[in-house]
Amino acid sequence: MIEFAPGLLYFPDFYSRLEQEALASLLRDAVKAAPLFTPLMPRTGKPFSVRMTNFGALGWVSDREHGYRYEARHPQTGEEWPAIPDLVLRAWRETSNYPHDPEACLMNFYDVSARMGLHQDRDEAALDAPVVSISLGDSCLFRIGSETRGGKTRSFKLHSGDVVVIGGASRLAFHGVDRIFPATSTLLPNGGRINLTMRRVRAAENLATGG
Ligand code: SIN
Ligand code: FE2
Repeated sequence: MIEFAPGLLYFPDFYSRLEQEALASLLRDAVKAAPLFTPLMPRTGKPFSVRMTNFGALGWVSDREHGYRYEARHPQTGEEWPAIPDLVLRAWRETSNYPHDPEACLMNFYDVSARMGLHQDRDEAALDAPVVSISLGDSCLFRIGSETRGGKTRSFKLHSGDVVVIGGASRLAFHGVDRIFPATSTLLPNGGRINLTMRRVRAAENLATGG
């Protein structure tokens, strides 16, 4: 493990190739139940270049009218999200140093032209919990800075099987994906990159009441 900055932990090759293949196959099945959708930016309605779906009790969604938020159901099928697969949970359990499992797992699919602008993950009340991110498929250039928009940033490549923990003093750091490097992995037959991010959504003090 490498600590790039306080709270920003990098676990290269966390998952073996065999485990990555098992993950890819689990995700292919899950996406049949909870199809990828294209989120829209709040207000402008501009489509994201990534497509998304979710696993777990809560899923992150965005549309023009209601903006960024967590919902218990898929916006198109109206069904609850599929459970977070155990093999995915393993990364959280072994890296998050948090006493509860995640409530949400967002899956982003990047085709080779997709990117993600710099943003903070701040739609969660539980900022004491980290975000745990898994990369699968083609490599990407990941960029991360400080809590200040426009502040200094640095970038590093993420490869298939890598896990990154964004927590502690880095929990609200601006981050994004500058580009995907095409044909850098053979994991996904049609190329592209999958990113899974697990989060706690509700503040810990609400847990006891289930609220
Ligand atoms: C995200 O910030 O939601 C995605 C990060 C990534 O794709 O690595
Ligand atoms: Fe993010």
